[in-house]
Amino acid sequence: MAGSDIGDRIVKVNHAGEHGAVCIYSGQIFAARFTARRLVKELVEFRCHEQRHRAVFWAELQRRGKPRCHSYLLCGFGGYVLGLITGFLGAGAVAATTVAVEQVVLRHLEQQLFVLRGMDPAAVSAISSIVSEEREHHARSSAHLKAGNVWAKVLTPVVSASTEAVIWLGMRL
Ligand SMILES: [Fe+2]
Ligand SMILES: [Fe+2]
Repeated sequence: MAGSDIGDRIVKVNHAGEHGAVCIYSGQIFAARFTARRLVKELVEFRCHEQRHRAVFWAELQRRGKPRCHSYLLCGFGGYVLGLITGFLGAGAVAATTVAVEQVVLRHLEQQLFVLRGMDPAAVSAISSIVSEEREHHARSSAHLKAGNVWAKVLTPVVSASTEAVIWLGMRL
């Protein structure tokens, strides 16, 4: 893969992923109004970060003259459904989902920065501008998770595998 090509793909996948994240939080915000009202304010704040991340990658895609990923709408739909289900399951499921997603996302962002360093400065700066907020989502959600939470055990493998699958697919579309 040529340098700019892999940078284009990464920016495109991240843009679709951020859309997925926005939609996960939208589904959770809707459902948490019934199941976990105390989380709503934080979820709205996290969604606001994800909207900015999506805008950062969209601006970078447009600068490159590239279209959004074919997986964009799928990410949005899948994310919203995941958000609704986990939101209705309650606060433990919401926190477990964020921790699982962010764990996978953070590992990929670090790999991306490693691969793109010195090769694609614009992509590196877009990615670098979002990492600290993703770390914050992970840390704050981990703090809500009580040890031995049943949803963490049930949801983590499913959510991790789905997040990996979406990234894998997006890189190949
Ligand atoms: Fe994000
Ligand atoms: Fe996030």
